[in-house]
Amino acid sequence: MAIFEVEKLGLHYLTRFGQKIHAVTDVSFSMDQGEILGIAGESGCGKSTLVNGLMGLFIPPLYPTCGDVRVDGESLMNRTPEDVRQNVLSRKVSMIPQGAFNALNPTRKVKDIAADVMAAHMKGIDKKQIYERLIERFNLFGMDTKRVLNSHPIQLTAGERQRSVIGISTLLNPQMVIADEPTSALDVTTQKVVIKMIFDLLEKGIFSTMIFITHELPLLRHVADNIAIMYAGEIVEKGTAEQVVFDPRHPYTKALMGAMLSAEPGQKQRKPTAIEGAPPNLAKPIEGCRFAERCPSAKPECKQKKQEIRIVGDRQVRCDYAE
Ligand SMILES: Nc1ncnc2c1ncn2[C@@H]1O[C@H](COP(=O)(O)OP(=O)(O)O)[C@@H](O)[C@H]1O
Ligand SMILES: [Mg+2]
Repeated sequence: MAIFEVEKLGLHYLTRFGQKIHAVTDVSFSMDQGEILGIAGESGCGKSTLVNGLMGLFIPPLYPTCGDVRVDGESLMNRTPEDVRQNVLSRKVSMIPQGAFNALNPTRKVKDIAADVMAAHMKGIDKKQIYERLIERFNLFGMDTKRVLNSHPIQLTAGERQRSVIGISTLLNPQMVIADEPTSALDVTTQKVVIKMIFDLLEKGIFSTMIFITHELPLLRHVADNIAIMYAGEIVEKGTAEQVVFDPRHPYTKALMGAMLSAEPGQKQRKPTAIEGAPPNLAKPIEGCRFAERCPSAKPECKQKKQEIRIVGDRQVRCDYAE
């Protein structure tokens, strides 16, 4: 049974000039318990906007345009940010944000930031129990627990900070975790440590269902069961990780794979091919296929005809001409 369902979700920003930026349009997918879904796409394609929508967190200027998001059958739409923070975040859906530094209050120690999260959600828990649980949990992460917990964020390395953020985001054993480019600001060695930590948590059963967002498609092959590719606010292709990485069908997925430095570790470095042109302006209505302007195999009608998701083999592709 699906524990997480997204149905025709549309999200927009309302600018100071009253203009609507349609950052996410028509996103639908569902996730089963234990599934790891990767979402990839160029910067600006709407990944982080989607994350806020998936948590039901609508803080102006972000507004829902249409659609529904359900966790365990319960809708997250039309709820106040306070309600969402208290009843959904941390426990049901928890986010590991893109920038660890901004996620931690610089004026407080890690243990106090973490204790606040626990105290807010676990009524009746006392300080001693909180710290015992914190030490137990942080000990799982192979860090110098006492020092990390007693430090201010600035006193930690980038890797320790990101691992602290992950530790805090998963303290309450959320049903589902959404990691938004959790390694993008880190060097390669630290990236590996952080990825390993996420997988240790999965292995230990601290959480079991995850959306992992990145602009690095090859990384997803190693971590995800299924992959969805986003372009200009839409999912253009979704299939198993193997299907999408090794046998992409949508022209954008093909272009994205071609633009990566090296598809596989150990493979000879080949010259990446940049995707010509730029994504469409999301403030204007877009009639036809959103990728048509940049698509090497576009037909004249592609610029007029909106493309819908269809099933090709056993995957979803938003292109009438994909085979
Ligand atoms: N506060 C905002 N106001 C208006 N437009 C925004 C705002 N935040 C993001 N956007 C726009 O929404 C689109 C999607 O951005 P984002 O979700 O951050 O993409 P990604 O995470 O894939 O890089 C971009 O075109 C971006 O410029
Ligand atoms: Mg982002």
